[in-house]
Amino acid sequence: MPRPLVAGNWKMNGSKSLLIEMANALRKEQLEACDTWLLVPAVFVEFAIQQFDTTAVKVGAQNLSGQAPGALTGEVSAAMLEDVDCRISLVGHSERRQIFGETDDEVVTKTKACIDHRIQPLVCVGETLAERQAGQAKQIVVDQIGRLMEKLTAAEMAAVVIAYEPIWAIGTGEVASAYDAQEIHAEMRRTLSDYYGLECPQIRLLYGGSVRASTVKELLAQPDINGVLVGGASLDKHEFVQICNAAAIAD
Ligand code: 13P
Repeated sequence: MPRPLVAGNWKMNGSKSLLIEMANALRKEQLEACDTWLLVPAVFVEFAIQQFDTTAVKVGAQNLSGQAPGALTGEVSAAMLEDVDCRISLVGHSERRQIFGETDDEVVTKTKACIDHRIQPLVCVGETLAERQAGQAKQIVVDQIGRLMEKLTAAEMAAVVIAYEPIWAIGTGEVASAYDAQEIHAEMRRTLSDYYGLECPQIRLLYGGSVRASTVKELLAQPDINGVLVGGASLDKHEFVQICNAAAIAD
């Protein structure tokens, strides 16, 4: 089994002072048994890398452009992230898909740009409430992963981490039950292994959506859930430390 991974997504929140506090809090913890990532706004990436330098925490970005550097005002390229030693990026978060109109094609392009620049992509998939109520949750997630599978070789896919984030559970306090989350994760794993077989060893699959210290243990006890992607709770150092500790014990 892959090591558990806890990734905190600060979204458009946080500050340099909160990064210093978080680094101080996490530095004290023995987190060797789990991987910890913090995905911060682009403007803080370099500062965060410096702050977490002496910790086991790895810093990532939340988005990038899939295009080559050029006349794209306001965008950040994969080459630029690589240049500042940023080795992780979220791709295709539902807020990017829903608010900024990011398409499946763009998600694939961004994922490939990450891989080309030695950045590990954490790609998000997940269904809306209406899709879940219509009984389409599995199909939506399988289709989103299918768009990636069409374009990525087994070796490329092996570098990807996938997060299942049901959109109705993001920022709402609603968590998918561990049973429902496991069901989708098992389907994702089956889809990937049917397509890539043994060429692509176990990919890490994370669950995201209102994860808290109180819910993380049950989620990580599921056989196909390898970690969690944490939004709001990653801004609270006490809660985030508790989540990381719970994941380290779950290993
Ligand atoms: P919350 O944990 O705040 O629901 O956010 C989940 C998320 O979108 C993480 O990427």
